[in-house]
Amino acid sequence: MKKGITILAIVSDDDNNLIKKSRDNVVSEETSFDLSFETNIRPKYFDDYVGQSALKSTLKISIEAAKKRELPLDHILFYGPPGLGKTTLATVISNEMGTNIKITSAPALERPRDIIGLLMSIKAGDILFIDEIHRLNKISEEILYPAMEDFYIDMTTGKSQTLKSIRIPLPKFTLIGATTKAGSLSGPLRDRFGIIHRLEFYSEDELTKVIQRTSEILQISINEKGAQAIAKRSRGTPRIANRLIKRVGDYAIVKSDGIIDEKTANAALDALQIDKFGLDYTDRALLTIIAEKYNGGPVGIETLATALGEDSKTIEDVYEPYLVQKGFLQRTLRGRKLTPYACKCFNLKNIDIQQSLF
Ligand SMILES: Nc1ncnc2c1ncn2[C@@H]1O[C@H](COP(=O)(O)OP(=O)(O)OP(=O)(O)O)[C@@H](O)[C@H]1O
Ligand SMILES: [Mg+2]
Repeated sequence: MKKGITILAIVSDDDNNLIKKSRDNVVSEETSFDLSFETNIRPKYFDDYVGQSALKSTLKISIEAAKKRELPLDHILFYGPPGLGKTTLATVISNEMGTNIKITSAPALERPRDIIGLLMSIKAGDILFIDEIHRLNKISEEILYPAMEDFYIDMTTGKSQTLKSIRIPLPKFTLIGATTKAGSLSGPLRDRFGIIHRLEFYSEDELTKVIQRTSEILQISINEKGAQAIAKRSRGTPRIANRLIKRVGDYAIVKSDGIIDEKTANAALDALQIDKFGLDYTDRALLTIIAEKYNGGPVGIETLATALGEDSKTIEDVYEPYLVQKGFLQRTLRGRKLTPYACKCFNLKNIDIQQSLF
């Protein structure tokens, strides 16, 4: 059988982030420009997948063992902030295993028939990738339990009097789940994953490699110092690094000779209001609001979201993890608090957030 990727109900947003929405038909990866951009630069095998070395070695062993046993891999859960390579890793695993992958996301599996249909379409050895798996509803989750554990689903057919339950065996498959919120996953679902891994933020050296690789694919001229300058301001995140290469590349063509060196990269990033820590306007606004309106915190997430004019989930998933990792923000039981380090770095007593802070 031909190996391939089936992407179920995907649209892409401005950020080249893949969002999967409920839709019945299956689209191929060539149908959207953003999707094909992602497809081009997305690493296909472990050799192209930069960083996450501990995770890669564990996975390589599991893959080799599964191949030797001629069995599918254990179910895998990846968690960590957006853009660190969870979806990419799922496709890398399918390529390394030489199996098909079906990609969907929990919000696309609203009705029991969505998940039943999907499970019944699985072939032996397939990988089923469910993004945002913490958003799976209770009914779908319960259908998934026996499918994951013993490879069957129970279905009811007929009406009231003639109602009967039938058990449908499924071929052995691997479920890969991804989430930015491991804490929101129910215990029973979490327990059914044999391999659970957190993806870490990338070092500057690793991001430099990601940038060099992407620039080569996109035929953007960049030297090592230029790549390092972008890496420094990419918040430890390959997706952001890839986005910045395109913006900086545009800047280099318009304002200079088209080659990204350190000077051009820094000038472009300054123009994009991305500071030397990789923080953008919203990050700095968040820190400033806590400093100025709430005296450094603690302040509750909902109050902070209202003050910032952002959705609290976006703050939690997108902004906070990096601010916490950099040591600028603390999550306490009573809310979010600035650290003394943040106050020092950003001179947070008398700050003007309209001004760049680099
Ligand atoms: N280790 C890596 N090496 C090279 N490129 C990477 C790596 N990880 C991710 N990327 C690139 O970063 C982009 C984002 O990765 P991906 O979509 O896999 O992130 P994600 O963790 O699934 O994000 P989300 O939580 O938003 O779904 C992709 O375009 C991919 O090409
Ligand atoms: Mg993803």
